[in-house]
Amino acid sequence: MLNKIGIIGGGYIGGVLVQECASRGIARNIGFVDPAPFVNPDDPPERQAVQAKQSIAGGKALDITEGLPIIGADVNLVASKDYSALEGAELVISSAGVPRKARPDGSFPSREELLTTNLKITKMVAAGIKQYCPDAIVINIANPLDAIVYTLNAVLDPPKNKLMGMAGALDSTRYRSFVAEAANVSVKDVSAMVLGGHGPSMVPVRSSCRIAGIPVSKFIDDDTLLALETRTRKAGGEVVGLLGIGSAFVSPAWAALEMAEAIIFDKRKIIAASAYLTGQYGIEGLFVGVPVILGKNGIEEILEIDLTEDELAALQKSAAGVRKTSDEAGELLAKMD
Ligand code: 2OP
Repeated sequence: MLNKIGIIGGGYIGGVLVQECASRGIARNIGFVDPAPFVNPDDPPERQAVQAKQSIAGGKALDITEGLPIIGADVNLVASKDYSALEGAELVISSAGVPRKARPDGSFPSREELLTTNLKITKMVAAGIKQYCPDAIVINIANPLDAIVYTLNAVLDPPKNKLMGMAGALDSTRYRSFVAEAANVSVKDVSAMVLGGHGPSMVPVRSSCRIAGIPVSKFIDDDTLLALETRTRKAGGEVVGLLGIGSAFVSPAWAALEMAEAIIFDKRKIIAASAYLTGQYGIEGLFVGVPVILGKNGIEEILEIDLTEDELAALQKSAAGVRKTSDEAGELLAKMD
């Protein structure tokens, strides 16, 4: 159990994270940060006074605290509109940023289109971490995922084992769920990984997908596999299109917690995560989704698994897309200084 976990971002994902952290008993203290609602200086003073007292993180934390006796959880929740609630956190999960949201015509932006807005928020997130918990292990959820992790790295320059992005865990659970449904077997029997950038170029790795240790191709034909891999690449958008009000929030929170629990309980679990690569898979100087061992030190090891020629080419193509967005993030960040 941790002494303290920090959760940044009080939206749908942040709410599920705090609720689950409280019920799973993974930390004695939870620090919860969200600056909303913002005080608008153009509003009448009475309205500004009301908004200054309101706090999304404070409201959600109080709501959860009041329910703790029912679930019998002894957890201390602190919330703040600034970053002070992070003080002393050993592990931080950040979902701070705007999500993809369907437009009135049903279309929705790409994750890359969130870059400018989420970069500004990321700068504040990095400053908050630097001030209140500089040694924390950090898991980022905000999009465009890999470029936001790249930006956190540029500002914080932490040991590379302590910074990672949650995407592979989510994309892999989506792939596993679709495979289990198509094969009509328990989700527990399916193991699979999705590598690469968190976008339409991600790479579901069919060659290592197994059902109870048996290659997936023994259960599902090629055309069906191709269709469910295409669905996996677009799965985030499928939820955005259905929800209308934002993007997926339960499975992303659970995926981040799968990573956090692997670290907190030193499970040495193999999970796909956006990690800093130094030549693995022919990729260098970028955060891209690859299989890693997660344990008490964060990323204990980056694994180089055997991929088919096509899978490796697809991973490198996906990394090229991540490089483009990460370079753009670097340029925008330099202009912000
Ligand atoms: C998703 O794929 C939120 O990026 C996240 O749903």
